[in-house]
Amino acid sequence: MVGKILVIGGTGSCGRHVVKHLEKKGQIVLVGARDEKKFKEMKFVKNTTFRKFDYTMKVTWKCALDGVDRVFLMALPLDDKPEKYIEPFIDELKQSQKIKKIVFLSALNAERFPIFKIETLIKDSGIPYSFLRPQFFMENLTDGFMKDELKQGGLTAPVGDHAIAWVSAQDIGGCATSLLLEESGKYDNQAINITGPAPITYPQICGLLSKYTGKNVKYNDVNPTDFEKVCLSKGMSLSSVQYLAIIFETVVENKTNTVYMGVQQLTGHQPKSFEVFIQENFASSSKT
Ligand SMILES: NC(=O)c1ccc[n+]([C@@H]2O[C@H](COP(=O)([O-])OP(=O)(O)OC[C@H]3O[C@@H](n4cnc5c(N)ncnc54)[C@H](OP(=O)(O)O)[C@@H]3O)[C@@H](O)[C@H]2O)c1
Repeated sequence: MVGKILVIGGTGSCGRHVVKHLEKKGQIVLVGARDEKKFKEMKFVKNTTFRKFDYTMKVTWKCALDGVDRVFLMALPLDDKPEKYIEPFIDELKQSQKIKKIVFLSALNAERFPIFKIETLIKDSGIPYSFLRPQFFMENLTDGFMKDELKQGGLTAPVGDHAIAWVSAQDIGGCATSLLLEESGKYDNQAINITGPAPITYPQICGLLSKYTGKNVKYNDVNPTDFEKVCLSKGMSLSSVQYLAIIFETVVENKTNTVYMGVQQLTGHQPKSFEVFIQENFASSSKT
């Protein structure tokens, strides 16, 4: 039987979909995050509760884990030293001796990124795990680092016509839920790659955004040095900009255009296409 599930980052652009999918399965979900106000705005169901959790405040960990036997774990976005807090947190999970499974939100091409250290720490912990390795989130357009620029009418990236098999965080939520609730051990100690149904380029994304918003959305194809300058000018930290640069290197090396069947395998349905995502999220704005 599955006990309480702690979803770390459950108010974030991916974690909120994990929570919603678990709710649909009738699970008791604890949302681990810092900001209770943000939690209330999510309008989760009554049984879903907030547990104050801050990686940087060890004092919050024990209470957040009370009664929990499964954890959806994620590193903070673009954190170049995720092990600083997650290593001691994994020790805490080990010491509790109550955790039956960790589902870790990793990333495709994880071995290229700092996040890979967390995969290694989890493997070494001896706790059963599954790693979800998604491609770029479509929700970067609506909740993530591309949102503000898109409001100004364009997208900037240093990747030319190289394609990415973007996946929706809604599908990631479905996949995470299947893994958290799987009791047969079928997916234990495995990494599962998940993507959308097809690779798509930035010019194609801008074409779809233009089509559904009725506005001309421009692609600003820049070289990596100029991209770093743009990101720094927007207030991103140097370490985050450098992390982002490694991510975009994998795009230019054509390591992001492969389609994987993880969503179909874990949820039984086809992943959402980028066109449907854009239609759902941007079509109405063309009417305003
Ligand atoms: N974006 C992509 O395209 C992509 C692709 C593959 C993998 N990933 C991975 O996905 C993860 C990011 O997910 P996301 O986009 O859902 O992030 P996000 O939207 O920025 O959400 C971050 C979540 O973490 C919580 N949080 C922030 N600081 C915290 C702290 N100190 N302690 C505990 N919780 C904290 C936030 O809530 P509070 O502020 O209330 O604490 C929020 O719930 C990263 O690990 C990234 O590597 C992203």
